[in-house]
Amino acid sequence: MASVTVIGAQWGDEGKGKIVDWLASRADAVVRFQGGHNAGHTLVVGEQVYKLSLLPSGIVTGTLSIIGNGVVLDPWALKAEFDKLTAQGVTITTENFAIADNCPLILPLHRDLDGLREQAAGSGKIGTTGRGIGPAYEDKVGRRAIRVCDLAHLDALDSQLDRLCAHHDALRAGFGQPPVDRAALLAELAEIAPFVLQFAQPVWKRLNKVRKAGARILFEGAQGVLLDVDHGTYPFVTSSNTVSGTAASGSGLGPNATGFVLGIVKAYTTRVGSGPFPTELEDETGQRLGERGHEFGTVTGRKRRCGWFDAVLTRQSCAISGVTGIALTKLDVLDGFDKVKICTGYRLRGKVLDYFPSHAADQAAVEPIYEEMDGWQGTTAGARSWADLPAQAIKYIQRVQELIETPVALVSTSPEREDTILVRDPFVD
Ligand code: IMP
Repeated sequence: MASVTVIGAQWGDEGKGKIVDWLASRADAVVRFQGGHNAGHTLVVGEQVYKLSLLPSGIVTGTLSIIGNGVVLDPWALKAEFDKLTAQGVTITTENFAIADNCPLILPLHRDLDGLREQAAGSGKIGTTGRGIGPAYEDKVGRRAIRVCDLAHLDALDSQLDRLCAHHDALRAGFGQPPVDRAALLAELAEIAPFVLQFAQPVWKRLNKVRKAGARILFEGAQGVLLDVDHGTYPFVTSSNTVSGTAASGSGLGPNATGFVLGIVKAYTTRVGSGPFPTELEDETGQRLGERGHEFGTVTGRKRRCGWFDAVLTRQSCAISGVTGIALTKLDVLDGFDKVKICTGYRLRGKVLDYFPSHAADQAAVEPIYEEMDGWQGTTAGARSWADLPAQAIKYIQRVQELIETPVALVSTSPEREDTILVRDPFVD
């Protein structure tokens, strides 16, 4: 049976939550494979609003939910989210939730370092979520991370802590900070360990087993391709690979297991944090997009930067991630505009480019080339079939798919699950 990998095809916040929730209700397992609690997914199911950062979206529907090895896990953030959701009536047990035992931990020292660096960088800051994501991934590839499985062996952690603390103490000294309080760290880990360990297991094994039994697996990406540490707007990126290929390595399955790649694409563009954004609108139009689209971060509450749809960047994301089809979201935010614009190329120092260059200075210097289309006056909100859409909105969708060279699989027309136009079912194809 088919599996589906969902990724954001812009800078995150494309509205993955609703799509993932809808797919999760039909999946047998949902897996997070990268990122951490820097993600923010809002699920609206009937009257209930669930805000998830770390737990896979399947948790709300009781579907087997797995945190894969590619995630960096803050155990205290996990506990807080667990408590919040169980208070909302969600049932989380060892039957429906598992954590990869080889998953690296985010520790308080990672949060400290994230904050200290951002503060020291001043206007050159990345604008991170402050959750310690980058420092935790650095320690993973630096081979000094404390992992979930280490929580079962805290009495044998001395030499690992020596390496970890030697590294962090030197960095902290540079920021005028005291060394890591090892005793306090160990005590905190000992306190949280039983909670995390009840869910810990070699999830690659469980996933391979359910896959062999014919399960439909949903791989739930976080952030977006333009924040990928290799392919994104480096250095203004997150510290993980957000592309679809990570679904395999970040969960313990092969690349042949990840199925239909569904790229979530917002009908305009937004970005939180610093970094290049060719179609950014710092005028009334940008303001209008932000207000109509409720563009405030789920995790940090920060106002998102807004701009016109960038077909060049989205085409690049879809190519890099092998996107099979897209889910177009938040089309209704464009309702009522007299004219709408789409970026179809860039001008860079007299040259025309049909791709986004790699160098940060070039990325900052490109000027968008726009194509202008008539807008539409009717509403697209709540539409459930093409017949419900104004003709001009259909033209916009068609132009988007043509420019990004990737077909539309579905169009989402409100946060409600049912308000969706389905062109091609990712689980069936
Ligand atoms: P970090 O992931 O906290 O290190 O932040 C690095 C960059 O990724 C910053 O620009 C953040 O705003 C951005 N970022 C991280 N997570 C998300 C997300 O879930 N949505 C949108 N942007 C994000």
